[in-house]
Amino acid sequence: MAERLTVHENKMPIYDIVIHENFELLAEEMEKFDIANRKLCIVSDSHVAEIYADSIKNLLEAKAKEVFVYVFEAGEINKNLQTVMGLYTYLIEQKFDRKDMLIALGGGVTGDLTGFCAATYLRGIDFVQIPTSLLAQVDSSVGGKTGVDFHEYKNMVGAFYHPKLVFIATDTLKTLTDKEYLSGMGEVIKYGVIKDKDFFDYLKEHVQEIKQRDGEAVAYMIKVSCDTKRKVVENDFREQGERALLNMGHTLGHAIEKYVYQDRLHGECVSIGMAGAAYISYKKGYITRQEMDDIISLLQEYDLPVSENRIDLDQVIHATYNDKKMEHGQIKFIALKEIGNAFIDKSVNWMEMKDALTCILEGNFHVK
Ligand SMILES: NC(=O)c1ccc[n+]([C@@H]2O[C@H](COP(=O)([O-])OP(=O)(O)OC[C@H]3O[C@@H](n4cnc5c(N)ncnc54)[C@H](O)[C@@H]3O)[C@@H](O)[C@H]2O)c1
Ligand SMILES: [Zn+2]
Repeated sequence: MAERLTVHENKMPIYDIVIHENFELLAEEMEKFDIANRKLCIVSDSHVAEIYADSIKNLLEAKAKEVFVYVFEAGEINKNLQTVMGLYTYLIEQKFDRKDMLIALGGGVTGDLTGFCAATYLRGIDFVQIPTSLLAQVDSSVGGKTGVDFHEYKNMVGAFYHPKLVFIATDTLKTLTDKEYLSGMGEVIKYGVIKDKDFFDYLKEHVQEIKQRDGEAVAYMIKVSCDTKRKVVENDFREQGERALLNMGHTLGHAIEKYVYQDRLHGECVSIGMAGAAYISYKKGYITRQEMDDIISLLQEYDLPVSENRIDLDQVIHATYNDKKMEHGQIKFIALKEIGNAFIDKSVNWMEMKDALTCILEGNFHVK
């Protein structure tokens, strides 16, 4: 049985998130968009295309007017305007018009890039997300943020633009490397930490099943994660308030990521940042030491890092204060009142940040 969530904006249903183990229901879902009269272009990166593009193309060819595949070289480095231009050119050559559709088949890079093309080609054409990495399934495919990097600036150019459908086939996670999969767990754990203590406990009790990518446990955790993101985004689509809670672990995480991105994946840096946020929440007297320890242990159970000794403290603090998420020179730090209850704390200062980073650097959260 497939799971279905519906994302709303201003109380109007905008699109469904369908979660199923494989692609058997995809053609049926796509038929709802009258694809017999529309051309489709599957956009995918070189890794994912090799594994999945042919089978998805075959599935859809039985129903659609015509199906094309556009492949770009995998990697964040290609999430840029150059690749967007390549895709625009291809769409023009294939005479794609306003009623035709794009399908993003891949991780967050593919989803962000394809979504941005869909938002801008002919002032906007429909697109569907088929996320295949854990990060994309629980995070980037939901919420309507699309965009590309510009020179060294991440996600500098983009648009808020909703897909028509997010179709998640959980089986695709089986071809993901352990490192990519576990990195995605950083974002999954984040949802428990910021919003849902029961989910946090579930993740604690199902470590083995989830690490083995057991279908049932994985489907459940993806559903809860998407549903949490859905609710937060519905309340605050343009990130005026509550959506900032999703940045838990990202203030320090992003700053650290700048210096170690060659070795560490995004979710790993978020994990380190979350350990730092738990420490700050503990030091400020919001949560108990036991709660801090519980968060750090859960991250470690999923083989996620909580320390990093290759960073320079001052550099990372400066990077933190230069983050675009700053408001009037203050950091909107995401702290915890308890596990499952995060809030925006504007009182976190330089020294507290430095303390947390020292713990991260030394790998010891039990100082003083
Ligand atoms: N739009 C948003 O709200 C949002 C949120 C979070 C992150 N992001 C963006 O997402 C991107 C990161 O996403 P990502 O981690 O998925 O990166 P990614 O798309 O580069 O995928 C990671 C790697 O896994 C491979 N891959 C993906 N699915 C696979 C599968 N099923 N089997 C085998 N290999 C597979 C990809 O080819 C790639 O090499 C960043 O650019 C980030 O900015 C966007
Ligand atoms: Zn993230």
